[in-house]
Amino acid sequence: MKLSAKQAVDVLRAAGEPTRLRILALLEREELAVLEICRVLDQSQPRVSRHLKLLAEAGLVERFPDGAWVFYRLTGEGRAHEVIGEVLARLNPDDPVLARDRRKIDDVQAERAAAAQAYFADNAAQWDRIRSLYVSDTSVEAEILRATGGGHVRRLVDLGSGTGRMLMLLAPHADHALGLDLSQQMLNIARRNTAEAGLSNVELRHGDIFDTRLPEGGADLVVVHQVLHYLSDPAAAVREAARITAPGGRLVIVDFAPHQHEFLREQHQHRRLGFSDEEMNRWLAEAELPQVAQMDLPPTRADGLTVKIWAARRAPTQLRSAA
Ligand SMILES: C[S@@+](CC[C@H](N)C(=O)[O-])C[C@H]1O[C@@H](n2cnc3c(N)ncnc32)[C@H](O)[C@@H]1O
Repeated sequence: MKLSAKQAVDVLRAAGEPTRLRILALLEREELAVLEICRVLDQSQPRVSRHLKLLAEAGLVERFPDGAWVFYRLTGEGRAHEVIGEVLARLNPDDPVLARDRRKIDDVQAERAAAAQAYFADNAAQWDRIRSLYVSDTSVEAEILRATGGGHVRRLVDLGSGTGRMLMLLAPHADHALGLDLSQQMLNIARRNTAEAGLSNVELRHGDIFDTRLPEGGADLVVVHQVLHYLSDPAAAVREAARITAPGGRLVIVDFAPHQHEFLREQHQHRRLGFSDEEMNRWLAEAELPQVAQMDLPPTRADGLTVKIWAARRAPTQLRSAA
């Protein structure tokens, strides 16, 4: 796609400033909240917001509010994206300023991950009770069963398996079920729960949803239940879940609709306050997994949250292009 001379000047002018180029390089890694960008750049919020506004006007970044926070990400498509993608790809990673920014964002991420890990370690024993505070398990689980297509599958993978609730629901419908989680405390409880339920086809493994090390197209059913809202890069997790989904297989994602309960961020380590259909459908489409069903389950109590289920299916004969 070609750019007019004016469009090219607008895009280059927006990106052609040291702080704005650093912001673009940061966002190339993952979506970030404004305050996180300020922290890495060590600049005030009004200043950073001015730069972000210019980048957004040039179509280089997208702004999306999430509760009381505002996040930014690189625009995923379009002419501006193509031009700037080329520039970012050519930046020297050893450039001292960019390398320092990367180290700082690594620190921000590490702090976030440590806080989430500590939360899950501390709350593993009570997780089943915490989860049911938000919604009624029974109605959500009946719909999840429906979203999986209802049949028997050979290989089920539950990413971020926690205490093993999804495995207990779905492993009876699978030959083999694998639960993957980053928290050893959660895995220990899931091992006990699934053993007590007599599920001999369940395997539990320590692993990271961003890099599962599972074979491409190796799972007929992949489930990501109430995990994405904790993650620094939910789009990357969807990509990885899609990568391991077999031709003809399903990916079922369960999470919250957008909401305003900031206390979940403050007290329960949620990073994102829910996901819109538009956002999820874009990620699924980018992963070449067309959606086959979408459900909204309204809360059973006044202060509750709407749970959403997105089910997508890979075409039976589709060969994955290198991701
Ligand atoms: C809210 S719990 C949900 C557990 C389970 N899916 C359920 O609904 O009961 C989120 C789980 O995701 C796990 N988790 C968080 N980040 C992860 C990551 N990067 N890779 C794998 N698991 C992760 C946590 O350890 C935790 O067990």
